[in-house]
Amino acid sequence: MSHSAEPLPMTARRSGPLKGEAQVPGDKSISHRALILGALAVGETHITGLLEGQDVLDTASAMQAFGARVERLGEGEWKVHGVGVGGFAEPEAVIDCGNSGTGVRLIMGAMATTPVTATFTGDASLSRRPMGRVTDPLELFGCEVTAREGKRLPVTIKGAAEPVPVRYKTPVASAQIKSAVLLAGLNAPGQTVVIESEPTRDHTERMLAGFGASITTEVTEEGRVITLTGRPELKPQPVAVPRDPSSAAFPVAAALIVPGSEIRVPGVSRNPTRDGLYVTLLEMGADIRFENAREEGGEPVADLLVRHSALKGVTVPPERAASMIDEFPILSVVACFAEGPTVMRGVHELRVKESDRIAAMEAGLIANGARVTSTEDSMTVEGSGGLAGGGASVVTHLDHRIAMSFLVAGLASDQPISVDDGSPIATSFPDFLPLMQRLGAAIG
Ligand code: S3P
Repeated sequence: MSHSAEPLPMTARRSGPLKGEAQVPGDKSISHRALILGALAVGETHITGLLEGQDVLDTASAMQAFGARVERLGEGEWKVHGVGVGGFAEPEAVIDCGNSGTGVRLIMGAMATTPVTATFTGDASLSRRPMGRVTDPLELFGCEVTAREGKRLPVTIKGAAEPVPVRYKTPVASAQIKSAVLLAGLNAPGQTVVIESEPTRDHTERMLAGFGASITTEVTEEGRVITLTGRPELKPQPVAVPRDPSSAAFPVAAALIVPGSEIRVPGVSRNPTRDGLYVTLLEMGADIRFENAREEGGEPVADLLVRHSALKGVTVPPERAASMIDEFPILSVVACFAEGPTVMRGVHELRVKESDRIAAMEAGLIANGARVTSTEDSMTVEGSGGLAGGGASVVTHLDHRIAMSFLVAGLASDQPISVDDGSPIATSFPDFLPLMQRLGAAIG
């Protein structure tokens, strides 16, 4: 669903200690994949803990449009009756992926090797983002692609009638590119190979293996070589979606910077390909304990116990960027409350997210009194143990993580911080406001 609602300004004010339990929603990456693989399996996949954010709801609608039966049974509980690999029907209408880069890119991959034609669109943010990074490798399978100037949405794909398998080295560290190629490889005969020089989130590989595909990952000098054997019969699996570490990052950061706070965040995924923010926070001196480490739905999870902490600035190395790519906006807020500089390197991919996140964070933080500099590929925040400023309204550019980051900043800055539009928060964290308010945050 494209974003058309009226802008929804929100304001956060200095708050007393945050206390209690934060039950953050299901993981967004895993939720998209559960719906897509459920639609490509033969029979019924039962999902619990699904994120019911707009991004994922748009993927659910898309799977229906391609012929799968998708049904909501209760809160976070969904059933997908799949049509099998190669079984997608031609959608009757344009597929609107709203704000979701993951949704549109993975679905393009999933349909590119089936002989149906589909047109994809999205909101103003998604329509600015590059799609060539996915459509270029998909064309190698034999599909035909038409796009707007700059390979942007709307994009029409005529799926390949006789797809060929592909060997593809991803030019940037991106799980979306890797996943699109693997999903396309499902309906190509023979072996499709993706090589990535930097490891990125591996949920697609884990879930494909869980659904019975033959998929291997080998670590070589070239990087991670992932080999998928095409034309498997995917077997429906129960999927228990763990809670999203990228969403957990917001209450965790709030507890670290608001004096006297102590919160618990249960059942959060600790997948090592998603763990970079937590590694960084521990280096900064954060008091975060990981309790009851266990496995749920094929992913490692733990309960987080987080206390307000005195923090120091650190340098985040470029090789860690992929494992925390969505967490740099909130890290740059936390960095203001640390003593000394925090340097984030190798972060050029932030420029093509829901917004140019380096530009959006730099502008908003400077407007609120922080000292920030950037290059094309890096950002530096000069922390001074607090944010003496605040008082400014921030432009969020339809970006949920920019909105949530500044609302967290406002809980501990001297003056309140406002965002021009908090409505995109519903794409990934629909309960953000009530959840934060229950912890004691003054946001509204
Ligand atoms: C995602 C991959 C990342 C991330 C996005 C979710 C995924 O994008 O930013 O929010 O689910 O595969 P890239 O793969 O483009 O880095």
